[in-house]
Amino acid sequence: MRMSKDDDFSGRFLQILNDGMLCLMTSVGHKAGLFDTMARLAPSTSAEIAKAAKLNERYVREWLGAMVTGRIIDYDPSAGKYSLPATHASCLTRAAGIDNLAMFTQYVALMGNVEDDIVKCFKKGGGVPYSAFPKFQEIQAEETARVFDARLVSDILPLAGQTDRLKSGIDVLDVGCGTGHAINLMARTFPKSRFWGYDISREGIGAARAEAKKMKLKNARFKIVDAAKIDDREKFDLITAFDTIHDQARPTKVLKCIYRALRKGGTFLMQDIAASSRLHENMQNTLAPTLYTISTMHCMTVSLAYGGEGLGTVWGEQKAKEKLAEAGFGSVDVKQVEGDMLNYYYVTQKKSNDL
Ligand SMILES: C[S@@+](CC[C@H](N)C(=O)[O-])C[C@H]1O[C@@H](n2cnc3c(N)ncnc32)[C@H](O)[C@@H]1O
Repeated sequence: MRMSKDDDFSGRFLQILNDGMLCLMTSVGHKAGLFDTMARLAPSTSAEIAKAAKLNERYVREWLGAMVTGRIIDYDPSAGKYSLPATHASCLTRAAGIDNLAMFTQYVALMGNVEDDIVKCFKKGGGVPYSAFPKFQEIQAEETARVFDARLVSDILPLAGQTDRLKSGIDVLDVGCGTGHAINLMARTFPKSRFWGYDISREGIGAARAEAKKMKLKNARFKIVDAAKIDDREKFDLITAFDTIHDQARPTKVLKCIYRALRKGGTFLMQDIAASSRLHENMQNTLAPTLYTISTMHCMTVSLAYGGEGLGTVWGEQKAKEKLAEAGFGSVDVKQVEGDMLNYYYVTQKKSNDL
């Protein structure tokens, strides 16, 4: 391997290599609770940090080596003490809530686990199924809990324009509900409305039911359902789909099922990745390389694993509108939530004279 900084690209590439490794070490730090511990401590030695975090000192010291040379943690060599700057803690700790970026780095290891399977798919086609991602629901739940807790009721749901009706009592379905946190939060906020969550994941539905029970909700129900086989007709006033349509094996069919399941004039709120369907228009999208990677290593491949369309994470606005129109929806508003650079919120209605 050529390891020189002679030209711009090789220098940049060394940085990419370092940053990739730092992602993995950040994930380790997040899982081991090291950032949370360090945020509470005054400048400390590796032994003090390891003791406070109840971890093995030798591993902590090596991790600190990566963090210090990666400019994530500060080091005072004369005192042999390490500290996490407050500005870094504000985007690396659990206390940072929705601003915690460290939790995202867990996806690097999750996807690294299936690298060999993905390479086989490059050669033979097909895909890697959900069962190859045993930690997926757990990490996804951790990711979306932060977002839903901070924004669902206050910023996201109002985009559907249904708040008054939710207060008086309507029927709501969340398609691909995962571990059900969105449904449970909505059900708690709007006790007169009735909520259903459908997902194909047994693990997701199990966690959703457990949370609903813990929250003592009487108006939230969950069912294992393949979204492409939803057979409800004109049953719901509002249907939501958070970050799930592009993962589907049969998204076109799913959107048609959603259209059929809505009552006339009912609203569909679809959260999906903020991107263009045209590659060159994504050059300015800061997260584009991450999105195409997640697509290749997870979203596209799980769809292809079931003989699906393989839309991919970056299917984009133009394609999304095309698919919504194909399902029967009329005009579509594409909205964004302040501070959420990752998502578009598509809001559309079932025509009031349609089936
Ligand atoms: C990226 S996750 C989003 C989960 C949840 N909406 C959230 O925001 O936390 C996509 C979800 O779609 C579900 N899913 C994929 N294919 C499905 C299908 N055919 N029917 C129902 N759910 C499906 C997965 O099990 C997963 O929970």
